Amino acid sequence: MSDAVFETNIASLPLIARGKVRDIYAVGDDHLLMVTTDRLSAFDVVFPSPIPGKGKLLQALSNFWFAYFHDIPNHLSGIDPESVVSPNERAQVQARSMVVKRLSPLPLEAVVRGYLEGSGWQDYQNTGAICGVSLPPGLQRAAKLPLPIFTPATKAAVGDHDENIGFERAAKLLGQERADEVRHLSLRLYVEASRYADERGIIIADTKFEFGLDRDQRITLMDEVLTPDSSRFWPKSSYEPGQSPPSFDKQFVRNWLETQSWNKRPPAPELPEAIVAGTLDRYQDALHRLTAT
Ligand SMILES: Nc1ncnc2c1ncn2[C@@H]1O[C@H](COP(=O)(O)OP(=O)(O)OP(=O)(O)O)[C@@H](O)[C@H]1O
Ligand SMILES: [Mg+2]
Repeated sequence: MSDAVFETNIASLPLIARGKVRDIYAVGDDHLLMVTTDRLSAFDVVFPSPIPGKGKLLQALSNFWFAYFHDIPNHLSGIDPESVVSPNERAQVQARSMVVKRLSPLPLEAVVRGYLEGSGWQDYQNTGAICGVSLPPGLQRAAKLPLPIFTPATKAAVGDHDENIGFERAAKLLGQERADEVRHLSLRLYVEASRYADERGIIIADTKFEFGLDRDQRITLMDEVLTPDSSRFWPKSSYEPGQSPPSFDKQFVRNWLETQSWNKRPPAPELPEAIVAGTLDRYQDALHRLTAT
């Protein structure tokens, strides 16, 4: 699809950080250039094999959702990423980047779940609740919840896994009013996006949003939005409660990994070509279904 960008090298801007997937540079004092590379992370470990073109698909999908929710304040600046780098660096950022307002990130991940899977399913089996939100007994794996629930998590330090926290702890971290606002916004985003996706044959089982404060202390949607990296996307056609459905996201890679002897600690193994291609296909399919006109 395109040449892979595993790591960018933009000499004209100060490098701030390399996340698992994004390379982040400073643009002046109050903006960031965020480049979505083709890196893949699973189980919080970055893989040596890039998924060529994945970064562009993720960026396109986030852009779609930012536009879809245009009345919710977001971090996009409208500045063209190609205009902030040297001409010879444009190919690295093209179609996979955004110049964003540099926000003060709120110290939690705003997770919303509509279905019972992943760490939510684990919690439910152990305690009958997720993040202290109690649920009816007897639910099957992948069951649709009576209502979507807000189940925040802490942002883990590099190499650590995120930890689910109750709403009370979220309210301590953010203050009651902000925590209420983040919950309200997250649930609204999830409900409206999953209604839209459902019409296009995709179930959004769960997702994670990130918010930050802008200069006026306004809560602003940042990072990536409703992508297969930040969400579980299931094809509606093969959904069946009781079993973990096939998906449009990293689950495909995770399933392959479970057949390997890898201990989930770095270094991660090389991915076979078929797994790289299969992953890209799934991301492509999700983007197509959600954005085709
Ligand atoms: N507008 C913004 N202002 C400040 N920080 C931001 C903004 N948007 C996103 N970020 C931060 O930038 C980083 C994005 O990089 P990336 O997604 O690669 O990191 P990661 O979260 O370590 O990886 P993963 O998404 O796999 O968990 C995150 O730490 C995110 O919180
Ligand atoms: Mg991230």
